Amino acid sequence: MPTPLPANDVHISEAARLLRAGRLVAFATETVYGLGADATNDAAVAQIFAAKGRPTFNPLICHFAAAKEAQAHVVWNDRAERLARAFWPGPLTLVLPKKSDSPISKLASAGLDSLAVRVPRHETAQALLRACGFPLAAPSANSSGRLSPTQAGHVAADLGDRVAMILDSGPCAVGLESSVVGLLEESLLLRPGGLAPEAIEAEIGPLIRVQENETAPPSPGLLLRHYAPRARLRLDAMAALNPDEALLAFGPRVPHGFRATLNLSPRGDVVEAAAHLFDYLHRLDALRPDGIAVMPIPDQGLGVAINDRLRRAAEGSRHHDN
Ligand code: TXA
Ligand code: MG
Repeated sequence: MPTPLPANDVHISEAARLLRAGRLVAFATETVYGLGADATNDAAVAQIFAAKGRPTFNPLICHFAAAKEAQAHVVWNDRAERLARAFWPGPLTLVLPKKSDSPISKLASAGLDSLAVRVPRHETAQALLRACGFPLAAPSANSSGRLSPTQAGHVAADLGDRVAMILDSGPCAVGLESSVVGLLEESLLLRPGGLAPEAIEAEIGPLIRVQENETAPPSPGLLLRHYAPRARLRLDAMAALNPDEALLAFGPRVPHGFRATLNLSPRGDVVEAAAHLFDYLHRLDALRPDGIAVMPIPDQGLGVAINDRLRRAAEGSRHHDN
């Protein structure tokens, strides 16, 4: 499998060269590692779906170095302007009508007439986008249905040779995917994520929280079975049910009697917990425990997105054959 390479100037230029040639490169954003391809190249975008084993062509987020570059591809509006001013670059994705003359691959938007756009703030993502000069379509750099990667090693272990290069920038600061907000007629929270819904609502007023729905997701990232570890997940756990269970803890009061425990935030901070979530799930899952128990996490701020991912992981893990 490709060894992750430090994200220095030399490797970033090499990565841009590979991307220009239609290859896939994994790179850090502040949320999670992305699996990037030239968003204007159909064949390159198609490789993303192949590498992830995505069963259907879900639309991908297109990443830009700056808001004005994103604006060339979508029909901008007042709410987009407010949110971009407040939160870009950052962990926020906006879904807007796609301009008909946009050169972005139809596969990247899965044939929809809307487009998801994001300006990430991580310096590697920024440097890579500037070196490329074209937008990058990038889903999280994991096999479909698996945990999102927050470290270069997670990508190498999961995608291996299916990616031409992995740029290593260390762990991601936010640790949860971006919040996805639809700004067509109404303002929809299509996916809770690394930006607290309260912060978004303070800028543009109430968001309609889209209900999860397994058969007709308004945003394919809302599929119930998603982000699944191998081990079965048990939510809202307060005590061990069996000694081979692992515990994903939260807060200062941690029950004993588990085979292994990792605490998302001993001081009970949801922002710190978000940054650790996927890494700790990866690490506990690698121990092959008889289930992972998860302590309750407050449903506020980034807790909304953490609980969303945990519910999906619990649902997904019920469907594995173990
Ligand atoms: O933090 C992130 O957002 C990461 C990093 C790499 O940027 N990317 C990411 O991409 O999580 P992905 O492909 O795993 O998730 C994209 C989400 C999905 O929920 C998808 O359904 C939704 O955005 N989406 C993309 N385009 C859309 C569209 N036109 N309409 C509605 N939802 C859309
Ligand atoms: Mg994903």
